[in-house]
Amino acid sequence: MATDPSNLPIDDLTEAQAASELARLAAEMAEHDKRYHKDDAPVVSDAEYDALKARNTAIEAKFPPLIRDDSPSHKVGAAPSSGFTKVQHSVSMLSLGNVFDESDVADFFARIRRFLGLDDSDPVEVIAEPKIDGLGFSARYENGRFIVGATRGDGQVGEDITANLKTIQDMPDMLMGPASDVPKVIEVRGEVFMTKPNFQALNSAQEEKGAKVFANPRNAAAGSLRQLDPEITKSRPLTLFAYAWGEAEPLDWDSQQAYFDRLKAWGFSTNPLTRLCTSVEDVLEAYAEISEQRASLPYDIDGVVYKVNRLDWQQRLGFVSRAPRWATAHKFPAEQAQTVLEKIDIQVGRTGSLTPVARLTPVNVGGVVVSNATLHNEDEIERKDIREGDTIIIQRAGDVIPQVVQVLEDKRPKNSKAFAYPSTCPICGSLAVREDGEAVRRCTGGLICPAQAVERLKHFVSRNTFDIEGLGAKNIETFFEDGTIKNPVDIFTLENRDADPDNLTPLKNREGWGKTSADNLFSAINEKRTIGLDRFLFALGIRQIGQATARLLAQAYGSLSSLRTALTAAQDRESDAYADLLNIESVGAAVAEDLLGFFAEAHNQEVLDGLARELTIEDFDAPDTDSSPIAGKTVVFTGTLETMSRNEAKTGAQALGAKVAGSVSAKTDLVVAGPGAGSKLKKAEDLGVEVKTEQEYLTLIGKT
Ligand code: IVH
Repeated sequence: MATDPSNLPIDDLTEAQAASELARLAAEMAEHDKRYHKDDAPVVSDAEYDALKARNTAIEAKFPPLIRDDSPSHKVGAAPSSGFTKVQHSVSMLSLGNVFDESDVADFFARIRRFLGLDDSDPVEVIAEPKIDGLGFSARYENGRFIVGATRGDGQVGEDITANLKTIQDMPDMLMGPASDVPKVIEVRGEVFMTKPNFQALNSAQEEKGAKVFANPRNAAAGSLRQLDPEITKSRPLTLFAYAWGEAEPLDWDSQQAYFDRLKAWGFSTNPLTRLCTSVEDVLEAYAEISEQRASLPYDIDGVVYKVNRLDWQQRLGFVSRAPRWATAHKFPAEQAQTVLEKIDIQVGRTGSLTPVARLTPVNVGGVVVSNATLHNEDEIERKDIREGDTIIIQRAGDVIPQVVQVLEDKRPKNSKAFAYPSTCPICGSLAVREDGEAVRRCTGGLICPAQAVERLKHFVSRNTFDIEGLGAKNIETFFEDGTIKNPVDIFTLENRDADPDNLTPLKNREGWGKTSADNLFSAINEKRTIGLDRFLFALGIRQIGQATARLLAQAYGSLSSLRTALTAAQDRESDAYADLLNIESVGAAVAEDLLGFFAEAHNQEVLDGLARELTIEDFDAPDTDSSPIAGKTVVFTGTLETMSRNEAKTGAQALGAKVAGSVSAKTDLVVAGPGAGSKLKKAEDLGVEVKTEQEYLTLIGKT
């Protein structure tokens, strides 16, 4: 009989035994994690758990090639997100756009000037402050008292980490200052992080205990903050800077700078390197200064954030998609390293795109071990003549996937051959074609291609779509392979099918499952049977329909049934319905083709019918338009506008629930015409559409 490797010292393990040990440890620890976090019923002591973890880490250190994808050491922090209560942010927590060089910074300023209609001579004040590489938080205070704290999550919904935030010394329990200076409601936002010295000390202590060692201060902060047990958070040295706000009542500061003063008065730390700039040159100087200090700062930063100082301007500038137009992040340049490209794999995405991925000899790049890099596409491989076996320079910047910057040709092996890009799908064997003008080669297998079907399913359940907990990538793959879930409808019929007496393999009897975990999955699915139309459309995974476009479509059509009716009509490219579709912002002819193609497909219609039966798809909830006189109306702006730029007029009208179209038709409700209006004004008059001057329009929407 073979020896049980679980009793062997690590130094005596053969490679095969090590692999089987890592598999056993991964499975065993996953079970303990689940018992601890989900069922609140651990069956081992912390010390026993730590010993398993230490054994896993030690085996991995000795046999790095055997490290598993599901290795317990990959998990950031012990707590899976499912352990936390969700918190809906009353004001979304946004992300930031990026600029990378001087000309991008100049463009950022130019865009602001253009949008606000400023002259070149008008100064634009901008705050420059370090971008902290930590975790965003939002802390809500009511009448000065800390009530609830949350992570950023997906920007709309975060996790309730109130108890954990309360353990951080820098987080005031009560806002300081006279009552008159403390708002009724204020959500203070900022970044929680761990300093470099504290990170080193924590890792040494962890190592001594044989516990998890963190890859960088950011992971250490994340792992410490997202603990179900606040006592653990309390024992970890976390720090924070505050820099933004969510809901504020009353909002009685008029600039970013004035807000920083308020933050300090309330008892928050703000970043001391923050500085007020008045020109592109000034901002670039601040960037250079902060870059210079980067290495000697006691905390990690990954760039510099620029924010328009004046609050009235911030409000006018507003947002594009999920990022403010009034702020941006100037990222530090990437870090580089040399390694060997062992193999080029081709992955097939949810829309059939073939994507080359470089598998690398693992290498440390600025503190992170990198073993994969993106190769973008076929042309990139050809242009750089990237071959398997090549020694290459890779670089990584922030969280983006590392890239290949250069091939070191003098190190190329003698027998090396140029990479032959496949012309068939590596998964289903269908022809993979590249259309004229397209960079990407695509598998033509459609839904017969298992790779596409699986990727679509993964997208369907992912965080920004249906967000079904417990139905991660691995489970989707297994369920797809064994036929349990073949399309999105199957997810919602799973529980009934599973309970069918003729079903010979109910989930609870399958390997890795039990009654509790099966029931947990069913309830996680049932929790998500109601969804907003915009999220639903994004979930369908239609090519070119991202979050922003899905939202615009939802806004334009309101309900799934009107959208389907309209798109059926729009299949006729001569119809008004088609013209209306093209009138939606960000929908051009190419996007329209992908959308109409999807809705024309019989198979997709079946899926839509099935989903409509299983789900409650909520009509699009137009933004606060109760008192809006233009909600639901189609407005066209033409001619020169005097108090606002065209773009500002458009986003303002959209925020009031209007659709803004580029051309006048019988469906137009209102034309706002400035001086110089030509054919559109004439057409409006011909069609009898209501026409207003800019001033009349401003009066209508209550802006004068
Ligand atoms: S301002 C609307 N300022 O960067 C503006 N963000 O990419 C909201 N971050 O999720 C963000 N340092 O967690 C701002 N000084 C700083 C920041 C900062 C780090 C993070 C923040 C946000 C992410 C955006």
